[in-house]
Amino acid sequence: MSTALRVLITGAAGQIGYSLVLQIAKGDVFGRDTPIELVLFDIPLMTNALESIQMELIDCALSNLIGVEAVTSEKEAFTNVDFAFLAGSMPRKEGMERNDLLAANVRIFKSQGKDLAEFAKPTTKVLVVSNPANTNAFICAKYAARKIPARNFSALTRLDHNRAVAQIALKAGVTADKVKNVIVWGNHSNTQFPDASHATVTKNGVEHKAPFAVGDSNWIENEFITTVRDRGGVIIEKRKACSAFSAAKAACDHMYDWITGTPLGSFISMSVPSDGSYGVPEGKIEKGMSWTSFSGLVFSFPGLVFSFPVTISDGEWTIVKGLELNEFAKEKIALTIEELLNERDEALGACEE
Ligand code: LMR
Repeated sequence: MSTALRVLITGAAGQIGYSLVLQIAKGDVFGRDTPIELVLFDIPLMTNALESIQMELIDCALSNLIGVEAVTSEKEAFTNVDFAFLAGSMPRKEGMERNDLLAANVRIFKSQGKDLAEFAKPTTKVLVVSNPANTNAFICAKYAARKIPARNFSALTRLDHNRAVAQIALKAGVTADKVKNVIVWGNHSNTQFPDASHATVTKNGVEHKAPFAVGDSNWIENEFITTVRDRGGVIIEKRKACSAFSAAKAACDHMYDWITGTPLGSFISMSVPSDGSYGVPEGKIEKGMSWTSFSGLVFSFPGLVFSFPVTISDGEWTIVKGLELNEFAKEKIALTIEELLNERDEALGACEE
C-alpha cells in the first residue's frame, strides 16, 4: 500500500476548492516533502471542471504529488482517506442566512458521515468548510460515530479568527504575525463572539494586551465584533459569491496547525466537539453495536461543535480551560450556544425526515 497521505477535497470544482487544491498540492499543509495523493470529489455535473483541475495539478509538476484522482462516486472518494476537507454543499447566496441552507446541507453531511464510517480510515481527520459548518460537522460526526471518534471532526472558524487577527493588526498598526491569542467563540455565523480581551499585540518588541495596543475599548466591544462576524455577508454582497481564497487559506491554516501544533503560550480558534468547557453542551460516550459487531464497541457522539480557543500538540487539540469571562462575554457566548442548539435540533429533525 502507498505510504502517501490520501487527502480528500469535496466540492473540489467549486470556488473554494479551486484555491484549496493548489495550496494543499504544493505543500502548504503537509509540507513540501510529504508525498500526497489528492482525491478531488464533486457532483457528476462538474466532471469536466474536475478533470480540468486534475490536468492543471498534473501540469504543476509537483514532486510530492504522487497522484490526483477526479471522482464523482462517494465510495471512491472516501476510501482510505487520511484527511478530508469537506467543502462541497449548496453555497449561501446574497440575502440568505446560514440556516436557510441547513436542511439541504445537513442531509449531505449525514450521508458523508456514513461514507466516512464505511470507507475512510478510523484515524481520518475531518474539516468541514461548508455552511452551516458547525452543525454540518456535528451531523457528520454523529453519523460517523460507529467508526471515527468525534474529536476527529472539526469545523472552520479559522476564517473568522484570521479576520479578527487582521482587524486588530490593522487597528494597532502592526503586521498580523504580531497579534496572538484572539478567540472566536461559538458558531460560524453572526452570533459568533470575536473576543480580543485575551489577545496580545507585540509592538516595537514589547507585548501589550490588545485593548491597550489598539487604544480603544469601545472599538473592541463594538465595531471589531460586527466587522468580523458580518464579513462573510459583506463579501457575498460585493462579490455576489462567498469568500473563496481567504476561506481556502484558513482551511489550510486550520489543518496545518492541527498537524503541526501550536507554539508554546499561543492558542488558536477551532470549532470542535465540546467537552463541556465554558458551559457548552458536551457529547457522550456510548457502548453499542455496529453493523458488523454486536458488543464491546464504544462510540463517541459529538457535543455541540463550537469554536473554542485550543492548543494543539502531537495532532491532538485541547480546549484552553479557565479563561476568565466577564458578563459581556458570558452573554455573547450564551447567545451563540442557543443558536447552535436550535440549529442542532433543526438538523436532527431534517436528518430524520
Ligand atoms: C464566509 O464567512 O465568508 C463564508 O462562510 C460565507 C458565508 O456564508 O458566510
